[in-house]
Amino acid sequence: MRISGYWLASGVLGMTASLLRRVARNGADAVVTKSIGLTPRKGHDGPVLTVSHGGLLNAVGLTNPGIDAFVDELSDLATIGVPVVLSIFGNSLDEIAKVASKAAEVRPSAIELNLSCPHAEISQISHDPQLTYRYVKTVKDLVSCPVFAKLTPNASDIVSVGASAERAGADAVVAINTVRAMRIDIHQRRPVLGNRFGGLSGPPIFPIAVRCVYDLYQALSIPVIGVGGVSTWEDAVEMHLAGASAIQIGTGVLWGMDVFKRVREGVEAYLREAGFSELSEIIGLAARS
Ligand SMILES: Cc1cc2nc3c(=O)[nH]c(=O)nc-3n(C[C@H](O)[C@H](O)[C@H](O)COP(=O)(O)O)c2cc1C
Repeated sequence: MRISGYWLASGVLGMTASLLRRVARNGADAVVTKSIGLTPRKGHDGPVLTVSHGGLLNAVGLTNPGIDAFVDELSDLATIGVPVVLSIFGNSLDEIAKVASKAAEVRPSAIELNLSCPHAEISQISHDPQLTYRYVKTVKDLVSCPVFAKLTPNASDIVSVGASAERAGADAVVAINTVRAMRIDIHQRRPVLGNRFGGLSGPPIFPIAVRCVYDLYQALSIPVIGVGGVSTWEDAVEMHLAGASAIQIGTGVLWGMDVFKRVREGVEAYLREAGFSELSEIIGLAARS
């Protein structure tokens, strides 16, 4: 699939075929599903979501119906109208292999490996270059569609993790997943979320995402898919300048599903006014200067 445009990020509205179709009709160039594992999973006890500093703090805990039920839900991908990227996770190499083989049966446009949810057991994978290598290689050896590795900003060295994913054959890296964070209720004097800590998303993490995209773009040869805090065309331009070929938007859909269209039109107007003829002319421009 072409790695360009403005996509729905994983976990946000990506649970059912009808929601994905709605997002596509509202202008997303591609959609990424909620991350799916081998078996049904309830997730964490509530509260699982709170607002914070203009963003969201969630500890949903990878709630999902399991790959068998999900494959039925997505049996006819063509009805969604845009490329569908299936996000998967697994707690072991054996598990990720089983999920990937089943996911490939519905012929998704690509598979995105969630190696990086900060409030579930899998959180450690993309902290470790060797583990990341093994997960990516296992899936690459099994499926014929493109494979993307989704990375965490919580790793001490995101570039070496990204380089490992590239060596293992990843077709792109996706940066970033949510940032490990917590809030405390000052009246009850205890953590707000049932799980105590969770992942921060939306505008507060935007500069962290830009830094990660910039560093990865400079070090890797595969495309970088930027995600984290984008909600305006100005954010999107900045992320393209840092090196993002495509951009995913998650929390930004809270302020209207027309976000994909608004961002695309704003970026196009920016390119015209600044005298560029193609988006590719600005991708990574700030990282090359
Ligand atoms: C409620 C919620 C659920 C999420 N679930 C997933 C998930 O299942 N898999 C995943 O890879 N990322 C998940 N994410 C992370 C997003 O895909 C994205 O990486 C992150 O929110 C940063 O982008 P944003 O600021 O545009 O939301 C979730 C985010 C939110 C807010």
